Amino acid sequence: MHNHSHVTAPPGRASNLAVARLFEEIAQSLEVAGEQGHRLRAYRRAAHGVAAESEPLEQLAADVCAVQEGLGFYAVINHGVSPAVIDDAVDQVFQLFHSPEEERQKYRGGYHLQGYWPAATTGHPDGEFAAEKEKISSLAGWTLLRERTQDDPKVKANKKHRTLNKWPDPKVVPLFRASMLRYQDAMLGLALKFLPIYAVALNLPPDYFASSFKAPEWYQRCNYYSAGRQGSGGIATVAHVDHSFLTLLPMSPVPGLEVRTHDKRWMSVSYVKDAIIVNTGEWLSQITNGRFLATPHRVVEPGHERVTLPLFLDPEDDSRNDPVPGSPPPLGKRSSWPRRTFHEHFVAYLSAHYKSDSSSGEK
Ligand SMILES: [Fe+2]
Repeated sequence: MHNHSHVTAPPGRASNLAVARLFEEIAQSLEVAGEQGHRLRAYRRAAHGVAAESEPLEQLAADVCAVQEGLGFYAVINHGVSPAVIDDAVDQVFQLFHSPEEERQKYRGGYHLQGYWPAATTGHPDGEFAAEKEKISSLAGWTLLRERTQDDPKVKANKKHRTLNKWPDPKVVPLFRASMLRYQDAMLGLALKFLPIYAVALNLPPDYFASSFKAPEWYQRCNYYSAGRQGSGGIATVAHVDHSFLTLLPMSPVPGLEVRTHDKRWMSVSYVKDAIIVNTGEWLSQITNGRFLATPHRVVEPGHERVTLPLFLDPEDDSRNDPVPGSPPPLGKRSSWPRRTFHEHFVAYLSAHYKSDSSSGEK
């Protein structure tokens, strides 16, 4: 893996990123309603995208700020991650889930909640969505952390969720590990490019977040939706918000993702070829006292095989979720967040969303 400690201040034209059109339904409903107001710009931005091939950092930051305050979801194009790297990783996950079930069963979650998650053991709702009882879903998963080695101090200390990754048997999927590491490396490189954009969006110096991401953590899910429940009309991934600072998700041509708008409508996401969806997680929302929204989203049963590979960018474990300068005062339930370290937050999130696996004796 590369050493990713080089989070540098951006040049004036920081990025060839552009915001892609994503929410046709929102655009159409706004036009019908003639809606005015603060959130309109965000929705228009997410709905219509931009024509520009590249934007100055300040412009991109202003757009990101508007989207994050109003909707919390957008997608980027011209992001520089090779489609071949993404396609190759997706193909490996298909191969993994097409291998015999007993091969995957050797790698169940255990103490660190990593590895294989058979269908209906993953993605449990909590908080606002706890009433959505677990149901048989087509979703199975395989979770990966930042890759570590046996001599890593956190591995030696058996720090929760900071363990060695579980990689499937190379005799079964020979290229899986190399493909996923290449994918994570490319996606992490992109994710770190957002740090100065988000800092400027919050009127902070471009390098504001650099100290929390010198050796960033990340979390990466391999989501596999089987085709077996076609036409069920059910929910494959229950509504939730992500735990992360931000989440990157290459768009799947197989639809299913829905995002909940501020007025509590569920909107499907329009497919944009080679686009990567970006959304705020709880951590970024908490450190902005809720100014940047962590938007609920879910996946309806796709009815077709579907693979998605979200990468969750996380700060270093000892970072704290104290509000950044200039945050609005906490309001209502926003002020009920415990102020704590990222590691405490991550442990709490995973224990709320994943069934612990008592069948494994692993510690
Ligand atoms: Fe999510």
